[in-house]
Amino acid sequence: MTGPTQPTPFLDLADQIDRLRDQLDVVWKTVLWGGRFVGGPEVRAFEAEFAEYCGVARCVGVGNGTDALELILAALGIGPGDEVIVPTNTFVATVEAVCAVGARPRFVDVLPGTLLIDPAGAQAAIGPRTAAIIAVHLFGQMADVDVLADMASRHGIALVEDASQAHGARFDGRRSGVVGTAATYSFYPGKNLGSFGDGGAVVSNDPALVCRIRKLADHGRSPDDRYVHDVSGRNSRLDSLQAAILRVKLGVLDEANAGRVTAMQGYRALLPDWCVPVAVDSRAEPVHHLAVVRVPDRAAVTAALDAAGIGWGLHYPIPCHLQPAFAEFAEAGLPVAEAAARHILSLPMFPTLNIDQIRRICDVIRGVAW
Ligand SMILES: Cc1ncc(COP(=O)(O)O)c(C=O)c1O
Repeated sequence: MTGPTQPTPFLDLADQIDRLRDQLDVVWKTVLWGGRFVGGPEVRAFEAEFAEYCGVARCVGVGNGTDALELILAALGIGPGDEVIVPTNTFVATVEAVCAVGARPRFVDVLPGTLLIDPAGAQAAIGPRTAAIIAVHLFGQMADVDVLADMASRHGIALVEDASQAHGARFDGRRSGVVGTAATYSFYPGKNLGSFGDGGAVVSNDPALVCRIRKLADHGRSPDDRYVHDVSGRNSRLDSLQAAILRVKLGVLDEANAGRVTAMQGYRALLPDWCVPVAVDSRAEPVHHLAVVRVPDRAAVTAALDAAGIGWGLHYPIPCHLQPAFAEFAEAGLPVAEAAARHILSLPMFPTLNIDQIRRICDVIRGVAW
C-alpha cells in the first residue's frame, strides 16, 4: 500500500491488476491450453463485447492504436495527393498514420480551454484535397463530434475519431465511433483499457468499412477463401492473450474510470487556484486518462514534485507541427497549442489514486514558491 507520505508514481496499475488476479490466472491458462494464439474465440468475443460497450455495430481488433488509424485511412482509400486535418496537440502517432498512407497532414490549433481540436480551425483548413478530419479525444475527453461530423458530411469527407485516450468517454451521451465514420483505440498498457502488451481496435457502424479493415489487417485475405488474397494487405492482428485480458479488464472499465473521475474531483477541490486543470465541455463526460494542469512556472513545480518523490509527465511539450519529423508540413504558427505546451503538466492519475495521495500532491504544489 502507498501511504500518504510515500512516493506516488505517475501511473500505478498494480492494485488494479492484483484485484483481478484470480480472473487473470484463469484466462492465461484458457489461452495457453486452448491453443489459439492469434484470432479465435477470445478475439471474436472481445470484438463483440467492445462493440456493444461502445454502442456501435462492429469492432475489429488490430495490432495497436497507430495501425488502427492507418488501416482506417487506407480502407477509406486515402493516400498520396490527399490531405487529412489533425490537431497539432496530440501524440505523434495520429500524424504518423497520415504520413504512413502517403497523405499530407494539415495541422490545426486547439481550443484554449479543453486543448482539443478547434472546429473553426478545422473548417478553415478544409480545401479541395481534404479527405478526412481526425478528431483526437485527448486526455480522456471527447472533442465536439457533433459539430465535426456535421462539417465532415457537408464537405463529403470522413470524420475519424482517435479515441486512444478515451475508453468509455461520452459526448452528449454517445461514445466514440457512433457519430464519426470510425473510431480507433489503443490498448497500450497504460491506457484506461490496457492490455499486457500492444493492442488496438477500430469500431464503426459501417460494416463494409470494417470488413475492408479486417481484410487489410490480415494480409488482404478474402473472407470467403483463406487461400485467396484480394488485395495486398499487411499483418496487424490483436492476439488471443491480449483479447482475453482485455475482456477481463473491460468488465471493470467503468469502475476504473469512476476512480479516475473521483481523483480528478479531488484535484479540482485541493489544487491552488494558480494550478488549473484543463477545462471540460459541459456536454462531455470525460474519463480522465491524464490529469493535465496548467501552471505559470513548470520548472518550479516539477522540481518540487521530484523532491517529494511524486511522478509527473508532459503531454505534450512540443506540438506536432513543431516536431522535426513533420517540419515539411508545418505552415502557420498555431499559437494556442504553442502557448499551452510551455505550461502544461500531467499529475499522477490512475484508478486507485487515493485522497491521501492527492492531498499530499496538492500540498506539495501549494508549497511551491515562484
Ligand atoms: C492519441 C493517441 N493516438 C494514437 C496512439 C497510438 O497508440 P499505440 O501506441 O497503441 O500505437 C496513442 C498512444 O499513445 C495516443 O495516445
